[in-house]
Amino acid sequence: MCGRESVSAAKTVHASLDILMRLWRHPPSEGDFQDRWRHFAPTKSFSGLTTQAKPIGWLLMLLLAGLEGAAPAHELITTKITWTREVSRIFFRRCTSCHHQDGSSFDLSTYEKARPWAEAIKEEILERRMPPWGAVKGFGDFQSDGALSEAEIAIISSWAEGGAPKGDLALLPEYSGTREEPEAPGTGRSLVVNGHLTLKSPVSVKGLRPDGLPEGATSRLIAERPDGTVEPLIWFYKYAPRFLHSYYFKTALKFSVGTRIRMQPEIGSVTLLLNQR
Ligand code: HEC
Repeated sequence: MCGRESVSAAKTVHASLDILMRLWRHPPSEGDFQDRWRHFAPTKSFSGLTTQAKPIGWLLMLLLAGLEGAAPAHELITTKITWTREVSRIFFRRCTSCHHQDGSSFDLSTYEKARPWAEAIKEEILERRMPPWGAVKGFGDFQSDGALSEAEIAIISSWAEGGAPKGDLALLPEYSGTREEPEAPGTGRSLVVNGHLTLKSPVSVKGLRPDGLPEGATSRLIAERPDGTVEPLIWFYKYAPRFLHSYYFKTALKFSVGTRIRMQPEIGSVTLLLNQR
C-alpha cells in the first residue's frame, strides 16, 4: 500500500513529528509504548486507567505508534539529493559553527542529529532566518555574509521534502569541527574596543567579534583615520548574543597610529581580530 495515501500519510506523520520536536526541543527518544506512556503519565500505569480514560489512552498510543512505526515503514525517498553528498557539505560550511556538540545551538553535525530537524531546517532556510547574520548588510565589506545561495536553499529544501535521505557513507566529507574556534579571542592577536580607542600602533584588522555587546544593542562601529576619512566597520542591529559569531572582512583593513575606532552609540565592547605583524 505504498500509493498516494501513504505519501500524504508519511507527510502528515513527519509534520506531527516536527511539532513534537519543537515542543520537546530535542529528538524523541526510542522507546516502547510503556515508556511512552510513562513519559506522558508518569504517575499512572496504563492498566490502571479508568474505562473512560482508556480510549483516550489507546488513541495516544496509536498516535505514538504511528509516529514511531509508520514513518520508517513508509519512508518515501523522492530525491536524489543526500546528506553525505550535498547537504553535509553546506552544513559544515554554514551551520555547524554554531550547531555542533557544545555549540551555541543544538548539534546538526551528523545525519542522525540533523534528520529529525529536516522540516524545521527547511522552514528556517526558506524564511532566511538561518544562518543568522546579525548585522546590517552593506555596512562594512565582509568575506561572506553567511547567507545561503539560492542553489544551496534549493538543495536543502529538496532534500528535506524528498525524505531527507542519508546516502552513501563513502561520500561524507570529513567533519573538521567548527571553523570559528581558531579565531576565538585569546588564541590570536586581538584588541578590545570598549566604546572607543585611539591606536598607538598600526594594526591590520581581519575581522571582529561582538563578544561584549548586550542583547538588543543597535550600534555602528567606525574607524576615523588621521586624514579624516571614515571607514565603516559594522552595524549591529538589535543584536542577539545567542547568534554570536565572528565577522571577517573581505580584505584586512590597515589602520595607522592615531586612527580613532569608536562605536556609535557607545554600548558594550567589540573585539577586533588582528593579523600578526
Ligand atoms: C551564528 C550561529 C548560527 C548559525 C551559523 C546557524 N544557526 Fe541555526 N540556530 C542558532 C541558534 C542560536 C538557534 C536557536 C534559536 C533561537 O534561540 O532563537 C538556532 C535555531 C535553529 C533551528 C531551530 C529553529 C526553531 O526554533 O524551530 C534550525 C532548524 C536551525 N537553527 C537551522 C540552521 C541551519 C540549517 C543553519 C545553516 C544553514 C543554521 N541554523 C546556522 C544559531 C545558528
